[in-house]
Amino acid sequence: MTYIQLKTALPGPKSQLLLERRKNALPAGLAKSTDIAVERADGALVWDVDGNQLLDFAGGIGMINVGHSNTEVVHAIREQLDKYIHTCTLVTTIEPYIRLAELLNSVTPGNFPKKTLLANSGSEAVENAVNVAKYYTKRNAVLCFEGAYHGRTLLTLSLTSKYALFKKGFGSYVSDIYRIPAPNMYRKIEGMTDDAYIQHCIRKLDEAFISQVDPESLAAIIIEPVLGEGGFIPIPAPYLQKLRDVCDQYGIVFIADEIQCGAGRTGKLYAMEHTGVVPDIVVSAKSIGAGMPISAITGKAEILDAPHLGGLGGTYGGSPVACVAAIAAIEILKSKSFLDRSVAVGKLIHETMQKWKTKYKVIGDVRGLGAMQLVEFVKDLNTKEPDMSVAMEVIKEATSKGLILIRAGLFSNCIRLLPPIVITDEQLTEGLQVLEDAIALADAKRKI
Ligand SMILES: Cc1ncc(COP(=O)(O)O)c(C=O)c1O
Repeated sequence: MTYIQLKTALPGPKSQLLLERRKNALPAGLAKSTDIAVERADGALVWDVDGNQLLDFAGGIGMINVGHSNTEVVHAIREQLDKYIHTCTLVTTIEPYIRLAELLNSVTPGNFPKKTLLANSGSEAVENAVNVAKYYTKRNAVLCFEGAYHGRTLLTLSLTSKYALFKKGFGSYVSDIYRIPAPNMYRKIEGMTDDAYIQHCIRKLDEAFISQVDPESLAAIIIEPVLGEGGFIPIPAPYLQKLRDVCDQYGIVFIADEIQCGAGRTGKLYAMEHTGVVPDIVVSAKSIGAGMPISAITGKAEILDAPHLGGLGGTYGGSPVACVAAIAAIEILKSKSFLDRSVAVGKLIHETMQKWKTKYKVIGDVRGLGAMQLVEFVKDLNTKEPDMSVAMEVIKEATSKGLILIRAGLFSNCIRLLPPIVITDEQLTEGLQVLEDAIALADAKRKI
C-alpha cells in the first residue's frame, strides 16, 4: 500500500471552494506553492479537505521537523491551556518563558553566560538580534550576504537579498546595510579548486572592508550557516572562521540566523556546530516551536543585557502555550536518536538524488547538509544557466500526484526538501519516486 492515497484529482472540489474563498478574502500577494487545502496532518502525512492522503516534503518550510501534531508537543500545549493562555511577560513572570530560555541558553553553541529573548516570528527575532547588536556596539552598520533571507519586516527585508520575489515595490530600505556574495561552491569561479575559491571569497571580504564599509562601523555580521531560501548553500567552515576572526578583531557581533538550518535539520541541533565556530548571537525559530509561532534570540549575556530597561519585549513574545510546545520540541530535537535520524534522512535523500544527476540533464546540482537537501535545475550543465521553469513544472506535476513541495534559490530554480525528520524510509522512498517521475517528465520535454 502506498502512503499517497488520492480519491480525487488535485485540487478536489472542496479544496477548490476553499481556494476560491482564499482568492476572495486574502491579498493576492500572499503566495502558495501548492493548491493543497489542509484538513489535518500527522507525522509526514497531510490530509486535504477532499480526503486525499498526501506526503509532505515541505514541512511548512522547515517548521515541523518533529512531525505534524507531534504527541509530546500536543500534550504540552493541552496541559498549558488548562492553566492559562497568556498574561504577558511585560506584566507578569511566567515559568515556561524562563524554562525555555534556560534550555536555549544551555543547548546553543558557546560556553559563556547567555541570555534569551523570545519573540513570535523569525523576522521579529532577527530584527531584535540586530537591534541588540546595535545597542551593544553603539554602531549602526550591518553586513549581510547575497542570497540571504532574513524576513519581511522593514529591517529584515532590507537584509533579505532577493528583489523580484520579496523586495520589489517595498522600498526605501534601512540604510547602512552592506551585502557581499556568499561562497557558493556550485557556482564557484571556473577552474578554481574549492580551497582556492574559499580563499578568493575571504579576499573579497577583506576588500569589502576597503571598498564598501569600515569594519569599525559594523554592529553585526549576520549569516545563515546554510543559506535557506538562497538555495541550501552550506557556508564553508574556513569562511565562517574568517567572519569570527573579523568580528573579534573589530568588536562586531556575529549573528547566526539558524531559523531554517537549526532545530536539528542538519544532523546537529545548530548548523554552526558542524564548523566549531561560535557566534555571539544565534537566532532560532520555525521548528523549535513545532508549528507554534515562537522565536528566540540567544547570545552572550552582556550583549543581550545591553538595551535599557523597557527597550525589549512585546505583547505576545514568549506566550506560554508556544513556550511549552518549544520545550517539548527541543527535548526531542536535541536527542541523539533524532539527530541520528536527521543524518539518515539526509543520506537517503542525497544518495537518491545524486543518482538522478547522471540520468537527467536538467539537474545541475544536488547539495545540502544533513536532512537539508536540495536539487538545482539548469538549462545547460556547462553554463549553469538557472532554469526556473523546470522547478515550477516539477512542483506542479509532483503536487498533482500528492507530494507537497516548495521551491528555493536566488533564481527560484531549485526544489528544497524539508520533510519532517520523523518521516519513515518507506514514505521518503515513495515521495522521492514521485519527485523523480516529475523530473523525468520535465527532462524528457526538454529533449524533444
Ligand atoms: C533563515 C531565515 N531567517 C528568517 C526567516 C523569517 O522567519 P519568519 O517567516 O518566521 O518571519 C526565515 C523564514 O523562512 C528564514 O528561513
